[in-house]
Amino acid sequence: MCGIVGYVGPRESQPILMSGLARLEYRGYDSAGIAVIDGEGSLGMRKRAGKLARLSESLDEAPLGAGTTGIGHTRWATHGGPTDGNAHPHLADDDKLALIHNGIIENFSELKAELLEQGFAFRSDTDTEVAAVLLGREYRAHEGDLEAAFRAVARRLDGAFTLLAMHEDHPGLVVGARRNSPLVIGLGEGENFLGSDVAAFVEHTRHALAIGQDEIVSIRPDSVRVTDFDGNVVEPQSFEVSWDAAAADKGGWSSFMAKEVSEEPEAVANTVMGRIHDGAIVIPELEGLDELFTGIDRITILACGTAYYSSLVGKYAIEQWARIPVDVELAHEFRYRDPIITERTLVVSVSQSGETMDTLMAVKEAARLGAKTLSICNTQGATIPRESDAVVYTHAGPEVAVASTKAFVAQITALYLLALHVGRLRGTLAPSIADEAIEQLETMPGKIQWILDNEQERIEQLAHWMADTRSVLFLGRHVGYPIALEGALKLKEISYIHAEGFAAGELKHGPIALIEPGQPVFVLVPSPRGAATMHAKVISNIEEIRARGARIIAIAEEGDAAVLPHADEVLRIPLASPLFEPLLAVVPLHIFAMGLATAKGLDVDQPRNLAKSVTVE
Ligand code: M6R
Repeated sequence: MCGIVGYVGPRESQPILMSGLARLEYRGYDSAGIAVIDGEGSLGMRKRAGKLARLSESLDEAPLGAGTTGIGHTRWATHGGPTDGNAHPHLADDDKLALIHNGIIENFSELKAELLEQGFAFRSDTDTEVAAVLLGREYRAHEGDLEAAFRAVARRLDGAFTLLAMHEDHPGLVVGARRNSPLVIGLGEGENFLGSDVAAFVEHTRHALAIGQDEIVSIRPDSVRVTDFDGNVVEPQSFEVSWDAAAADKGGWSSFMAKEVSEEPEAVANTVMGRIHDGAIVIPELEGLDELFTGIDRITILACGTAYYSSLVGKYAIEQWARIPVDVELAHEFRYRDPIITERTLVVSVSQSGETMDTLMAVKEAARLGAKTLSICNTQGATIPRESDAVVYTHAGPEVAVASTKAFVAQITALYLLALHVGRLRGTLAPSIADEAIEQLETMPGKIQWILDNEQERIEQLAHWMADTRSVLFLGRHVGYPIALEGALKLKEISYIHAEGFAAGELKHGPIALIEPGQPVFVLVPSPRGAATMHAKVISNIEEIRARGARIIAIAEEGDAAVLPHADEVLRIPLASPLFEPLLAVVPLHIFAMGLATAKGLDVDQPRNLAKSVTVE
């Protein structure tokens, strides 16, 4: 949540900050602001409530003075509503110092009381301004040493924060600090950048440095210095960004979500790529780490939102192929319930951003309790993989739309690769099953593409007809159940329609009372070949709700004629083994949610109240 960008170098900073913010806007879009130290050495600042476009208009009408040092921020409000005054940057030290922040300062009330008592004044309702005013005070106490002042401030703050600040006395210097909140460095030629993630600067450089926990960074045009909170110099870890700026552009698509759904085949293909050798799964990142999987008696998967649903799908594959019990837990519930974790537990976290605070905190707790930790993540340089013993990257490419789509199929793919890897290591996977699974995995991209080519238009048409629908239910069994949950989440998230997913067998235990004439229900129908019993059971579940007036939209495999008399609409997916059906069945649901939100005239990329990367608890 909140996007942060900083620049020092020879170029005019305002356009660099604004294009960085445009790429980071998915992290929060309540308000935005920038501050620049101009050629005369004075600090100018502009901030506006609303989307970045409002700030842009304001800067067009009345530009700030040109300068080559600057910071920018796009906000997802926590403390204080989305107003001009609460937007960042916040100023202090007679408006000579500007500060931006991502995270929550938990002890802000106590610090504010201390500062008020000392006569300092505040102009906003935010926790951030407390950090700005405190930094102003410490700057004076440390005789104009911005880094030393930053260290003093960082040691006083509780909670999660990324802070960037600059002072008019120091043109050519931006200082940052991070604890439990993301910040990466972009290395340029005679210029340097800071960003919440690499999207902030990827159009200028792909050379990056990851900043560790509780570290402070100072960037100048020709140098980067990282220290811990005590001032000891640390060597940051470097990495190359594996994608270029074009990958994070909308291209010709109407929305990032449309682009990302179209990239689902590629997301699966790229996640598999380089991990099958001579017909066997080889995950290079896990080489030499067999002990992560052999000395364990249980796997716990931690995730939130869509990543939680992909994890639920992963549980079926891991249990089936690796014969080890798997619990899947919402990360924010895990931490506070005294979980039973031992050194024989492997904790796998699944996160697109690698920054979700709930997941990060749960992983840390699991590590504290002695578990081995493995992260499945889509973002290089992110915090969760850095805090884990091992990482398996999904290669979905940058995901910008708030609604996660291509990352979801990439996560299932990575979990399946992991399940096959663990199954082989533990000797629980028959070679013929492994061969079949690998063959299935390799055919998935083509089959997803088939859905996009052959069914997308019809699904969008259906969504258009249903634009006035007030409630949609989703039913599935076995691996279809998490897909029903994902279909419902996607619909509520971007179209603001009431939607719920149920295990089909659970309906008669209560939720069937919701069914009234005309109620649309999506039903994921398992293959009649691969899962004949489940197919029959799901058809029975359909009949139970049809008898009460439900309108059935079935998602069924090509050639399943038995479903036709039981459904009002049938959306087709290609044939696949039962465990692989989720990778296909979810695609129509992603298209449907997007189609319906579009038909309602909503912004599918930036739905209300949400942000892409949830870096607060
Ligand atoms: O970055 P993460 O995968 O950790 O994010 C987890 C959830 O916040 C995320 O999946 C969220 O539910 C999406 N907006 C769903 O589309």
